[in-house]
Amino acid sequence: MTIEDYILSHTDEEGNLLEALNRDANVNLLRPRMLSGHLQGRILKMFCRMLRPKRVLEIGTYTGYATLCLAEGVEEDALIHTIEINDEMEDFIMKYVSRSPHKDKIRVHLGDALEIIPQMNETFDMVFIDADKRLYSDYYDLVFPHIRPGGIILADNTLWDGKVVDEVQSSDKQTIGILSFNEKIKQDNRVEKVILPLRDGLTIIWKK
Ligand SMILES: C[S@@+](CC[C@H](N)C(=O)[O-])C[C@H]1O[C@@H](n2cnc3c(N)ncnc32)[C@H](O)[C@@H]1O
Repeated sequence: MTIEDYILSHTDEEGNLLEALNRDANVNLLRPRMLSGHLQGRILKMFCRMLRPKRVLEIGTYTGYATLCLAEGVEEDALIHTIEINDEMEDFIMKYVSRSPHKDKIRVHLGDALEIIPQMNETFDMVFIDADKRLYSDYYDLVFPHIRPGGIILADNTLWDGKVVDEVQSSDKQTIGILSFNEKIKQDNRVEKVILPLRDGLTIIWKK
């Protein structure tokens, strides 16, 4: 047994719906590793249990795996807004959202987060940034005024497969995007922050 197997066998199960989604993604989608998965999904749910956010924004839906985990964790009167630029994902996302007992808490927006966020008339308690790595700083700047003081931003993949400590190629725009986001957060004294070495790195940012 690996340490990962041990952790998962002593963590809540993901449940039948998410297991089916995961299998479907692995068989039918090109980049199934992009979805949050069992451990991170349970952590996202646990953050919602602990922080009880009423308004959550996810930037980058992909299959809806993390969306469903966030929706599981929040209370009945909460809303999860999630934005996905690739409209080819719509059928996949809706197939699983429609089967979830938490479907009424989920609003899926198809389009570019950079265009949709400025039109949103919401104040968020929690934001999960998990879209184009080259644009993390742009999402952050755009969403920051929409987050209440005391709100949380979670940013995924901030260790980017360990590439943040390697020499970076000028052609590697994704690593450059993550590096400049991490630097920006480090310098930003409007927030407190910590990088969790979970999976591919999950930064927790608390707005003062
Ligand atoms: C890593 S996946 C999201 C995984 C999902 N959050 C989860 O944890 O299961 C990133 C997704 O962001 C989408 N994306 C990229 N740029 C975007 C943008 N500007 N606006 C909205 N979605 C975007 C991609 O199409 C892709 O489906």
